[in-house]
Amino acid sequence: MMHDILDLERYPLDQPDSAAYADLVKRCQADLKADGMFNLEAFMHPAPIARTLDYVLPKFDTEAFRHERKHNIYFKKSIPDVAADSPLYTEFSTSNLTLCSNQVSDTPVRQIYDWQPFVSFLSAVMRRAALYPMADPLAGLNVIAYRDGQGLNWHFDRSQFTTTLLLQALIKGSTFLYRTDLRSADDPNHAGVEKLVRGEDPDVQALDAAAGTLNVFRGVNTPHCVTPAIGERPRVVSVLTYFETPGAMFTDEERLGFYGHTS
Ligand SMILES: [Fe+2]
Repeated sequence: MMHDILDLERYPLDQPDSAAYADLVKRCQADLKADGMFNLEAFMHPAPIARTLDYVLPKFDTEAFRHERKHNIYFKKSIPDVAADSPLYTEFSTSNLTLCSNQVSDTPVRQIYDWQPFVSFLSAVMRRAALYPMADPLAGLNVIAYRDGQGLNWHFDRSQFTTTLLLQALIKGSTFLYRTDLRSADDPNHAGVEKLVRGEDPDVQALDAAAGTLNVFRGVNTPHCVTPAIGERPRVVSVLTYFETPGAMFTDEERLGFYGHTS
């Protein structure tokens, strides 16, 4: 059944004892080390992508939460050793339409999210003893659309890694941009961050991904953004969040911030 959803010939997640599986884990770990991310192209088959889009696209018109916020690159009001008038506090706006976990429970992406071999594969690549889906009714699996003019602005992630599955890509606009290792645990590199915020960093790279690509990304020290979408078709991406402890829940405050409601 999962064969109908994922390309398990190319990515044998269902055969964890095989040499091909070990090679895949190694390849992903090497990519993570070199680029701060790995991509599995055509991981999800076109038919279940189409089924998911048929299910979610109408919901973006009727029941999605319109997530709009202004934030600086740190998502913080104050940063140690930085003066209040610093350009580092430049605010950007982020805008998308979000569907919560309990709004996408009947979709193939939900089956992927809960599929133990997928979770085990991520644990192996990320060198975690175990990972678990969230128990939160809203968080855990979200499907997000970026419509004309909407985007995700520059930020550092607060989570150790982010897992996304791209469901619909755009030809123009809505490009994922990132700047690898702009800071480190020892060096906040405020001068470098300021340059990025001013749009003057020559080392910004673009990821050109097609629908069906699985992307796992370490964004704690690699700021990234999604440029505004252009045109009628939205960019649609599912975000899969795992924790190292079972049963993870958001607080009411987090639910309000991400989804505009708490249940
Ligand atoms: Fe992020």
